[in-house]
Amino acid sequence: MSEQRQRVVSGMRPTGQLHLGHLVGALQNWKRLQERYDCFFMVADYHALMSEYERPQQIHTWSYENVLDWLACGIDPQRSVIFRQSDVPEHTELFALLSIVTPLGWVERVPTYKEQLREIEGRDLTTYGFLGYPVLQAADILLYKAQAVPVGEDQLPHVELTREIVRRVHFLFKREIFPEPSALLTESPRLSGTDGRKMSKSYGNTINLSEAPEKIRAIVEKMFTDPARIKMTDPGHPDTCNVCGYWGTFAPSAAARAHDECRRSIRGCVQNKRELSEVIVQATEPFRQIRAKIGGSYDEIEGMLQAGAEKARSVARHTITEVKAAFGLIGQ
Ligand code: TRP
Repeated sequence: MSEQRQRVVSGMRPTGQLHLGHLVGALQNWKRLQERYDCFFMVADYHALMSEYERPQQIHTWSYENVLDWLACGIDPQRSVIFRQSDVPEHTELFALLSIVTPLGWVERVPTYKEQLREIEGRDLTTYGFLGYPVLQAADILLYKAQAVPVGEDQLPHVELTREIVRRVHFLFKREIFPEPSALLTESPRLSGTDGRKMSKSYGNTINLSEAPEKIRAIVEKMFTDPARIKMTDPGHPDTCNVCGYWGTFAPSAAARAHDECRRSIRGCVQNKRELSEVIVQATEPFRQIRAKIGGSYDEIEGMLQAGAEKARSVARHTITEVKAAFGLIGQ
């Protein structure tokens, strides 16, 4: 990896199978970032545990499953460091150190915190650890001295908190250790779920990346369409139709024609869905193939994650030593 390149850190929580929303909202962006940045892509298993600690059995396998999808999408372990957060103990070490200097008021007022406490049902999130969620995220970012953090809009307060923590550390210890990271907002063309709401596992409206073709066809067949179009002879409204929106994302070169035919009532919703499901089947082919190739053995992935953790640690160790010196724990 070259010295001049800026660093990027991002992570995903292994809490389930990845779906088309992850592809459009994050993975395609990660793939592009590899061209210009030194990237660290992390399976955020500690972060997953913070909400799933009552049922943690699947975190380990979801980690492998998610990484398989990353690889199938073109995240390349030769170019980027792919690792699991819990394999690099420096994450929790830096988390502890940053916790010491982070004022309680700063974490209590993070909007995602209050929102999740209110909205997530069936989980007890009133734990000491969960309050520290964004501080652990700050540790993830600062451990690698990342300049840029690709995130969705919902994560902006966490990047902002990270910047505040940087300034506080520099002020308290009278030295500059970290760059202030910027958020690289994914201008994700919002992909709606099969019911028109945001695609999300908790709404049960997803199409998973590794879904079987027959299942994809069955799901697409049941998708919500333009409610203002009742008969095929009614003109369609592709700009607001849930199904039509997918054309622009998955087959941009065919989108204009499909939309035009829909508007002129030449294309009915049944045909539209049938053709779209083939487009999605084709776009998700690599995700099924990688599973067929691995054949259920995660050994290769584990080996790759171990190699990634080694690379990550070689950077992380250096930062931790610097931070411990600044905090006065070890000699200069
Ligand atoms: N909190 C992020 C999310 O839910 C995941 C994450 C963990 C992350 N650590 C990170 C993202 C560091 C960017 C940088 O999406």
